Amino acid sequence: MKELKVDLGARSYPIKIGSNLLQTLGEELKNLSFGGKLLVVTDENVYPLYGKTCLESLKNSGFKVDVLVMPPGEGTKGWFYAEKIFSRALDLGMDRDSGIVALGGGVIGDLAGFAAATYMRGVSYVQVPTTLLAQVDSSVGGKVAINHPRGKNMIGAFYQPLLVLVDLDTLNTLPFRELRSGMAEVVKYGIIRDASFFNTLYTALDPTFSQEKEFFQDTVYRSCAIKAEIVSADEREGGLRAILNFGHTLGHALEAATRYSYFNHGEAVNYGMLLASRLAHREGLLRKTELDLIEDLLYRVGFLEFPQNINVKDIVQGLKYDKKRKGEKTIFILPEKIGRVGIYDNIAEEKVEKILKDFFKEFNKY
Ligand code: NAD
Ligand code: GLY
Repeated sequence: MKELKVDLGARSYPIKIGSNLLQTLGEELKNLSFGGKLLVVTDENVYPLYGKTCLESLKNSGFKVDVLVMPPGEGTKGWFYAEKIFSRALDLGMDRDSGIVALGGGVIGDLAGFAAATYMRGVSYVQVPTTLLAQVDSSVGGKVAINHPRGKNMIGAFYQPLLVLVDLDTLNTLPFRELRSGMAEVVKYGIIRDASFFNTLYTALDPTFSQEKEFFQDTVYRSCAIKAEIVSADEREGGLRAILNFGHTLGHALEAATRYSYFNHGEAVNYGMLLASRLAHREGLLRKTELDLIEDLLYRVGFLEFPQNINVKDIVQGLKYDKKRKGEKTIFILPEKIGRVGIYDNIAEEKVEKILKDFFKEFNKY
């Protein structure tokens, strides 16, 4: 098992990464001095695979536990299901010493974390992420949220967990597209912060993702270490944390243009990183040799076929809904070299449109 720390003073917490960790959940929570009752929030795909192991471990450690199983998918990350958590917590008589366990991917982590942040003005929670994306990104850093019909993640909080417990064995059951989605976020860390990690991935990443377990252990560890360092320096995204949004400005626009029903998150971010890197090169910020290396690795992660029924206008329109906009300005995170990005709010809309138009021309050739 490997362990690292998100260093936030009194709100610091460990991230534990290894195999066979689900069965240790009860012991881990005992060490955290959880009182009261526990509610495990999970989804219908994850529960049959990992629910029993977690519940048994918690019960064996003496906890009173109940479980709430949600439908899978982004549609669950909304008010209706948050209220289901609140109602069950009230039914169970959960008080401020009670706790919530988020067992699942980013949808469950964000939703259960949001419920923990707000139920009785805040109860403790732990993240047990079961997708690669959740293990390397969404479970770390305390961003919790639900969606509003007018925008993703619009209602939320910064609310840190007490522990992130990553059992790498859960990746064995993860569908290929979900692995690919997480791998896009992994590559993101190399591009934004760590050229040596980028090089390791460049050497080792096989597009079938059939690497040895050690590869995943190292990859999750190094990704979490980069995210932990950034979050520790800038918990509430006053500055540096914004670099984690590399690829997300155009990625979110693609998700919005396809009504959140075509791409999963990392697949859209992979296109977003490609487009942002091309924009950076066009702006004279990134050398062609580095752009080529980035594109190479992004292609190795793999792209979902580009959707037929959207156009440049739809995507540009999607940029207007970006949560990170400052007034009328769209914020872009652009690579300046592998391992370093800058934050730009002065990129003219026409330049973004040109990148997209060129991309569409290229795409139509296929
Ligand atoms: P997800 O939670 O929808 O999980 C993807 C699918 O995999 C679901 O169908 C789920 O049931 C299934 N699944 C989960 N674990 C499994 C396993 N081990 N084996 C088999 N199937 C499994 O999606 P996700 O990609 O994990 O998360 C996406 C969400 O995360 C989005 O809502 C996004 O906004 C959010 N997010 C949040 C942050 C943050 O900082 N809070 C960062 C990135 C993304
Ligand atoms: N996923 C972006 C962040 O945590 O800030």
